[in-house]
Amino acid sequence: MKKTYAVIGQPVGHSISPTIQQVCFDALAIEAAYVPFEIAAEKQADAFKGLKALGIAGFNVTAPYKEAIMPYLDGIDESARLAQAVNTVKQTDAGYIGYNTDGAGFIHSLKADFKQLTTASTILIIGAGGAAKGILVALLAAGYRRITITNRTVSKAEQLAIATGVEAASLTVAAAQLEQFDCIVQTTSLGMNPTDDQLPLDLTRLRADTFVSDLIYNPQETAFLKAAQSNPKQNGLGMLIYQAAVAFEIWTGIWPDIDKMIAAANEKGF
Ligand code: ATR
Repeated sequence: MKKTYAVIGQPVGHSISPTIQQVCFDALAIEAAYVPFEIAAEKQADAFKGLKALGIAGFNVTAPYKEAIMPYLDGIDESARLAQAVNTVKQTDAGYIGYNTDGAGFIHSLKADFKQLTTASTILIIGAGGAAKGILVALLAAGYRRITITNRTVSKAEQLAIATGVEAASLTVAAAQLEQFDCIVQTTSLGMNPTDDQLPLDLTRLRADTFVSDLIYNPQETAFLKAAQSNPKQNGLGMLIYQAAVAFEIWTGIWPDIDKMIAAANEKGF
């Protein structure tokens, strides 16, 4: 029987997931449909139970349900336990199991674009919210240790740093010590609005060879990435593609064709 996969969230209308997942199923001639379900906050409990009752083969979870889904699942994989958030669910003989592929997706994308990256690389993370935390725990699990977190609200960076054993710095100190870092990862939402021209961190002391990553993919080039000028850099599209690839592999056991996924995303204007 044709299997059904889904993405749930609110909103999901502009989600790229249906496009990039369907292209993977089709390329492998796997009979499956991948559909977006927009779920209203007051219907979330019924919707989560409904997905399970319908026997959906797997689904992605996007904002604002990445944490809310967790109590409804039958098991939580280590990746989701560490991130304390689920973005991928798989139907198994043991019920519905929650995973988080965002962190692994980020690391795949960083390795693909930043060839000099090693576990000795010094990494500065800007932001201390959910996205920063997901990336931090994935980097730590993958053996990266030389990590500093900086954030507008420095106490949040300090809390996260203490909980995970990394360093924290104020934006001022991070900006003054910028030459120390081989890689900078921008995880805040500043830049999502195309009119955002303020930078989350002063880049005056940026080294010319420092790799700059911004998790935002829309707009394709934030003011922050623009300010990094001719530095090696990436936006968040790679992470988006790779987190989807890791989810596809969890569902099917097959690593999909990344180039086909990128081409499908580009066709949609991403
Ligand atoms: P997400 O899940 O996308 O990480 P979040 O958990 O709400 O969202 O975290 C938002 C992050 O973006 C925080 O680090 C926040 O900084 P504060 O802790 O100081 O609020 C950061 N952020 C949001 N808007 C920002 C802005 N205008 N300037 C700088 N940082 C901003």
